[in-house]
Amino acid sequence: MNSHPIGFFDSGIGGITLWKEVTSLMPNENTIYISDANNCPYGDKSIDEINEISSKNTRFLIDRGCKTIVLACNTATTNSISNLRDKFSIPFIGIEPAIKPAALKSKTKKIGVLATKGTLTSNLFFETSNDHKGDVELISTYGEGLIELIESREDDERLVKLLEQYLHPMVKKGIDQLVLGCTHYPLVNELIKKIVGNDVNVVDCNHAVALQTRRIMESNKLLNNDNTNSPNYQFFNNGSDDHAIKKVLENKYEIFKFES
Ligand code: DGL
Repeated sequence: MNSHPIGFFDSGIGGITLWKEVTSLMPNENTIYISDANNCPYGDKSIDEINEISSKNTRFLIDRGCKTIVLACNTATTNSISNLRDKFSIPFIGIEPAIKPAALKSKTKKIGVLATKGTLTSNLFFETSNDHKGDVELISTYGEGLIELIESREDDERLVKLLEQYLHPMVKKGIDQLVLGCTHYPLVNELIKKIVGNDVNVVDCNHAVALQTRRIMESNKLLNNDNTNSPNYQFFNNGSDDHAIKKVLENKYEIFKFES
């Protein structure tokens, strides 16, 4: 079982940012990544639709022997992780906007959260942010339209304009922390940093989630300690082309097609 792969899924290339953290922390692990670009974006879908998509992706990964699954998507995590845990018996690790570390660091007591509508309207986000924000004010904005532009990366000008439209008002209100609540956003970290300026700290929790993945796997005795083989990484994409995923992976891996 220990040499079985860890499964990942996201609505496209965003989850690769988390996949990179996990695989650099646990270089012996074999992985399977689903880029479910055909259903992108998840953020505008109903909870029922997100549950159905997440279950389908999970089934696909379990059928290929995955020993644990990382939901490399805030929208899928905040809407579906408890449903998946009820349905399937393997461990699931999710990613949620990093409210706690941002709230602890904030001096202005104002933090910005950029995430999808699906994440920001979920019960889990509501509960976690209430538990962790303390006396800090959350200024949240739906990043509508960002995922599509990040996936295509053909029109940086439109992307910059849209980011400015969402981020400038937060900066004006005095945030000193910006939480990236979607795994696609670290892909444009540099643009985001330029827009918010040096006084705003940009927070994502990919590294913390990678550490949590290792802890969960350790406690379930699922870690692959065999370092004699190089790891096997498989990527599946159901989108119309592989341009974006190939680019993020620097053309290092073959991309397989799947229907969904
Ligand atoms: N990467 C996903 C997330 O973290 C994107 C969601 C979407 O497809 O809207 O939320």
